[in-house]
Amino acid sequence: MKHKTSEMLNMLHQEHIVLHMRSLPEDEQLKMVSQIENLDLSVLNNDNSEEKRGHFEPLYATTLDEIAQNRNRYKEIGLQAIRDGKVGAVLLAGGQGSRLGFDHPKGMFNIGVERELYIFECLINNLLEVTNEAGAYVPLFVMTSTENYKETHEFFRKHNYFGYSEDNVWFFMQEQLPTLDTNGKLMLSGRGTVSTAPNGNGGWYASMAKTGMLKIVKDAHIEWLNVFAVDNVLQRIADPCFIGAVIESGKVSGAKVVAKADPNEKVGVLCLEDGRPSIVEYYEMTDEMINRREENGVLSYNYGVILNYLFRVDKLNQTLSVKLPLHRAFKKIKYMNENNEIIKPEEPNAYKFETLALDMVKLQDNCLAYEVDRSREFAPVKNKEGVDSVETAQALLRKNGIEL
Ligand code: UTP
Repeated sequence: MKHKTSEMLNMLHQEHIVLHMRSLPEDEQLKMVSQIENLDLSVLNNDNSEEKRGHFEPLYATTLDEIAQNRNRYKEIGLQAIRDGKVGAVLLAGGQGSRLGFDHPKGMFNIGVERELYIFECLINNLLEVTNEAGAYVPLFVMTSTENYKETHEFFRKHNYFGYSEDNVWFFMQEQLPTLDTNGKLMLSGRGTVSTAPNGNGGWYASMAKTGMLKIVKDAHIEWLNVFAVDNVLQRIADPCFIGAVIESGKVSGAKVVAKADPNEKVGVLCLEDGRPSIVEYYEMTDEMINRREENGVLSYNYGVILNYLFRVDKLNQTLSVKLPLHRAFKKIKYMNENNEIIKPEEPNAYKFETLALDMVKLQDNCLAYEVDRSREFAPVKNKEGVDSVETAQALLRKNGIEL
C-alpha cells in the first residue's frame, strides 16, 4: 500500500480505511489506493455551518393572467428561438431517488396502471408536443450518475428514445463525492471500495464542461439551456411561452414558479437576496416573511420553485470557475459493515454532499419568475406514499387527460 495514502488517511482520522486496505490482497489494495487518490476528500473538512444569508426581499412574478394576455407573442418568440436552434434542454437524472426506494434510475419508474408509462416517457411526450409544433428538435442532454449511466442509456435505446430523435440526445455523467457516517467517517460500499454518491444537481454545467457537452452546445450555437428535474411528470420542457417571456424580458435567466398552496407550504421561494435572485428555503423564513402580503392580498413570498430554469449560456460560462457551496443531506446509504456484510438501511443513516441547482440562480444578475398552474405543470414523484408520491402524480396525470 502506498505510504503516502495511508498517512493522509490517518491524518484525516480515517484509520479504519487503512486497516481495511491492509486486509486486502495486493492487487485490490492498489485499486483502492487509486480510487482514494481520485476522491475529492474536501468533504472531510467541509464546514457544515449554515451559509450566512443576506437581506431578503420579495421578487414579483409574471402571473398567470399576465402570461395569458401575452401568450401568443411569447409563444411565437419561443418557437422561433427553437427553430433557430438556440434552445437546448438538460434533464437532471443523476439523483438516487432514495425516498421512492426504486432500485433503478427514477425515470425508469412505470407510473402507468393499465399500460406501461415510464417517467422518462412522460417527459419525452411533453417535449415532443413542443418540437412537433416547432418543427425542429431541441437538443437534449441527459445527466446521469456514474451508477445509472449505462442503465439510463440502454433504457432509452431499448425504447427507441420514446419517439424522440436519437441524434439529438446526449448522455453525460456527473461527478461523485464520498459519503460520511454520523461520526464523520468514510464508509465502504463494498470490499475495496469507498462509498461515494452523486454530487448533487448543482454541478450540471461544470459536468457538461468536463464531459465535452459544452463543445456540442458551442458548435450548435445554443444560446439558452432549459434545465429540469426528472421527477415532475407534468414538466413542460422547452416551453415556448416561457422561453419567449424570458427573451422578451431581457433577463439572463428564468424560473418556473407555482403560487404557494398556503403560507406554510414547504417549498423554496424565489426572492431577492441582496438585490440578486435567490431562493429562500421555507425553514429560513421568519413569521413576518411567511405572512407578509402585498396590497392586493397576495403573499409577498408566494412563488415556489419547481426545478425548471432557463439560463443564458454565455452567462453560465462566467460561472464555471465559481465553487458552489456543498450542502449536507442525511440519506439512506447502503454500506458494508465491519463484518463485510452489505447493509441496506431502512432509515437515513449517513450524509451525502451536494451542490444545488438553485445556487446557480444566485449567480445570475436577474431572473424572471414565471408563474405556472401547478395542477397542469407540477406533479413530482418523490415519495412512495403520501405527499408528492406516485399516487398524487397519477391523479394529476389523469386530471390532465393522460390515460394510465
Ligand atoms: P432530489 O433532490 O429529489 O434527489 O433531486 P434524488 O436523489 O433524486 O431523490 P432522493 O432525495 O434521494 O429521494 C431533484 C432532481 O435533481 C436530480 C434528480 O435526478 C432530480 O431530477 N439530481 C439530484 C441529480 O441529477 N443529481 C444529483 O446528484 C441529485
